[in-house]
Amino acid sequence: MKVTIVGAGNVGASCAEYIAQKRIASKVVLLDIKEGFAEGKALDLFQTATTLGFNTSITGVTNDYSATAGSDVVVITSGIPRKPGMTREELIGINAGIVQSVSENVLAHSPNTTIVVVSNPMDTMTYLALKSTGLPKNRIIGMGGALDSSRFKTYLSIALDKPANDIHGMVIGGHGDTTMIPLTRLASYNGAPVSQYLDQQTLEKVASDTMVGGATLTKLLGTSAWYAPGASVAYLVDSILSDQKRMIPCSVYLEGEYGLNDICIGVPCIIGSNGIESIVDVQLNAEEKQLMSESANKVAAMNAALTDIL
Ligand code: LAC
Repeated sequence: MKVTIVGAGNVGASCAEYIAQKRIASKVVLLDIKEGFAEGKALDLFQTATTLGFNTSITGVTNDYSATAGSDVVVITSGIPRKPGMTREELIGINAGIVQSVSENVLAHSPNTTIVVVSNPMDTMTYLALKSTGLPKNRIIGMGGALDSSRFKTYLSIALDKPANDIHGMVIGGHGDTTMIPLTRLASYNGAPVSQYLDQQTLEKVASDTMVGGATLTKLLGTSAWYAPGASVAYLVDSILSDQKRMIPCSVYLEGEYGLNDICIGVPCIIGSNGIESIVDVQLNAEEKQLMSESANKVAAMNAALTDIL
């Protein structure tokens, strides 16, 4: 199985690292526009193969899309990350053109691939990739919900002081500081509702910390996060390549599901070898439905900025 990662920055390199370490693919190609950069990252990563015991080949290329030919999955991390104080939405002007041309280039060499979009603003970039390539909707997947859900579960595990892998929960909605919807009502400690152990104020704090999870890290690090984003991509790619059919919240094109149309936004999806295999209908209560509708309005407003491109 071959995975191409476009953009060899922090997120792209972390994706490559986790995909290799977890033996998710046999071949990883890193591609970047900066001369020699992907080659350098790939060589450094590949030199960990014997010490870490993986056999995934990792190679890097400068803008040579022919090296990406025949990829089963292509991950797009290209574009600029946000700086402290910026919203993901402020990146649209620069990242839209980049994501559009990258999508076209990868498809020219891997017409049957599934594309995973990481670039921000992620829901709008997913929508752009879908509309500009005309790929079937099951083959364009926005990664945000996987990452946001991992942050939600981490904050819950800290609040509960329980192991992170005993916590279950998901975040739906847009991948933005004000558009994420952590589904606190449905989160559980191994099946027991977290509301049995955490008071309302703590649950609200967990939800708000989750929503600004990326912004908090951007402030601490001076640039956007990469370990958790990279690991979330690897998790998603693993479910595709091994046809695991895991339920992962992803940004996907909706045609009536959750009462929404003509938008890519985070909802729980079954992820397998056909990409988005189906969308899971989680019964939302009135308050959650209202939040979803407000989130979708904000994402749709952002998509409106694409009219010059599409
Ligand atoms: C984050 C970026 C990847 O949330 O959107 O860290």
